Amino acid sequence: MLSRYVIPDVPEAEALLPYLRQIDANRWYSNFGPLVSEFERRLTAYLQKLDKAAGAPPLQLTTLMTCYHALVIGLEVMHLPEGAKVLVPAVTFPACALAIQHAHATPILADIDDASWQLTPHIARRIAEKTKIHAVMPVAVYGVPLDAEAWDTFTAETGIKVIIDAAAALEVQQVPRTALVAHSLHATKPFSIGEGGVLIARDPNIIAEARRIANFGTENRITLQDGSNAKMSEFHGAVALAQLDRWEGVKQRRQAILKRYRQAIENVDRTLAFQEGLERAIPSVVMLKAAKPCAQETISFINARGIFAHRIYLPPLYRHPYFASLPVASGDGRTLPGTAAEKDKAGLMETSEELLQTLFGLPFHPLLSEDDIAYEMEVLGAALSASRAAPSAKARV
Ligand SMILES: Cc1ncc(COP(=O)(O)O)c(C=O)c1O
Repeated sequence: MLSRYVIPDVPEAEALLPYLRQIDANRWYSNFGPLVSEFERRLTAYLQKLDKAAGAPPLQLTTLMTCYHALVIGLEVMHLPEGAKVLVPAVTFPACALAIQHAHATPILADIDDASWQLTPHIARRIAEKTKIHAVMPVAVYGVPLDAEAWDTFTAETGIKVIIDAAAALEVQQVPRTALVAHSLHATKPFSIGEGGVLIARDPNIIAEARRIANFGTENRITLQDGSNAKMSEFHGAVALAQLDRWEGVKQRRQAILKRYRQAIENVDRTLAFQEGLERAIPSVVMLKAAKPCAQETISFINARGIFAHRIYLPPLYRHPYFASLPVASGDGRTLPGTAAEKDKAGLMETSEELLQTLFGLPFHPLLSEDDIAYEMEVLGAALSASRAAPSAKARV
């Protein structure tokens, strides 16, 4: 089980059958049918019970085809001006920058906090003091939730709208009073159904508009606005309902394996650091931060021994050829235009570059056996000893 870095924990055929039989009986296959509607009702009630925002309006949500669609549609319902500038962390999944571009806005790639590895309200404020931005898309990187209240305060003080990409943080990400929240139900995420997305807000009009956009801009077959097709099918609704039935077990397995794994890593090497707030996640990937720049050599060493070491969300987006023309902003608010050279951008993006040199991940999923963990730790220990013996080298992209 070490040749893949994640193995999804999804319902098996037996658990799906009762729901698939309902689809047979209903003969309804998409367009917010009975199963998708039931999933939306149950998920809303479940999340509402966990909601900590005292006195806030109740949660509203819509399912969508993917989190990418939730991000695009979430930006669309904000009605930003054409060409609006949207701040997004440089260390994230490409879907974030693509979603901003597909919503006719321009991403500005921000540097991140060195403990949480996230774009914080503090950094966004420093950048907004010097550069006009219309919205922020902070990301719950590696499933660690963001401070909802702090983002509410940010919007209240700056007037800048926020959509949180909490792709891998369903349930643990509290929904702010004003910001939207997008989740992914992709196979690699903890609440995995294959493909799926959820958009959450507290304003029923926002969610009604999102549903319209996801269904060709129509209501009762009449086109009221621009739109696309981003609906969740009844078949994904079936998997989603079956996953909700077993969600407690999924969470427990992930949290138990995290505890076991963390302990094993601490026994191998105490200089490896974990992401701040990791204990608040329902983890689906865990990244390790080396004390010196050795990520690329460590990954190569481990891969050569049959273990799929990897780096998710790295290199930072400004190092991807397609995003090379995007502007960047440092943690203290300095910016460089898209036309600046990659090396100059890299010089400005201190923490993103540090993570590029130091972060790596090993296979992490609930199907890891004790033997798998023991072998991972043996190879990790050997990789770190080899890197201690070698002169410090900068990781290649
Ligand atoms: C941070 C982040 N945002 C967005 C996405 C896109 O999610 P989806 O595959 O559901 O479109 C991902 C997927 O991995 C992600 O990690």
